[in-house]
Amino acid sequence: MIIWLTGLSGAGKSTIAQGLAQSMQAEGSLPLMIDGDGLREELCKDLGFSDADRMENIRRAGAIALMAARSGITCICSLISPLRRERDAVRALCAERGILFYEVHISTPLEVCEQRDPKGLYKKARGGLIPKFTGIDSPYEAPLTPELMIPTERLSVEESIALLQGKISEWMDTKNKKLS
Ligand code: ADX
Repeated sequence: MIIWLTGLSGAGKSTIAQGLAQSMQAEGSLPLMIDGDGLREELCKDLGFSDADRMENIRRAGAIALMAARSGITCICSLISPLRRERDAVRALCAERGILFYEVHISTPLEVCEQRDPKGLYKKARGGLIPKFTGIDSPYEAPLTPELMIPTERLSVEESIALLQGKISEWMDTKNKKLS
């Protein structure tokens, strides 16, 4: 299973992914976390933020997630993944290979992300110091039919994680019913 968290920088993707992973670990499973920032420190060090590089970043994240999911490991991916066609490409690969793919939109609006600005990046982007910053001068295409939306401007971190956990349980029940 792949749980794909998409949303703007500062929306809360990594925080929710970490909270989910911790609760899964506490229940005895060992999910693989694939986070945009972490990925870019290692495997995707060679990539920047041009459209082509972002596409390659998502492709690599999707490829690792697919490999792990095929070995039975749940993957929690948290990347901005701004373009619909790239997220849909991972979804299509999953469908071909019989891997469950759930797209979760961390739908925090730009104004809220910009107000939070946890890394000071929006301020820099507004000042022209970071070109092609998502939401400022690079597009973010919200999913049209995500499996779940988490509006973190209205929910606490704990509520957001609980909402996702509840949904995952529902998805698992549906999957098990289909199998039985
Ligand atoms: S993605 O667009 O390719 O999916 P990814 O999730 O890997 O992005 O990385 C996003 C992180 O990179 C942001 O949270 C931020 O810390 C950093 N970053 C640096 N430059 C940019 C930029 N131009 N646009 C968006 N994020 C950036």
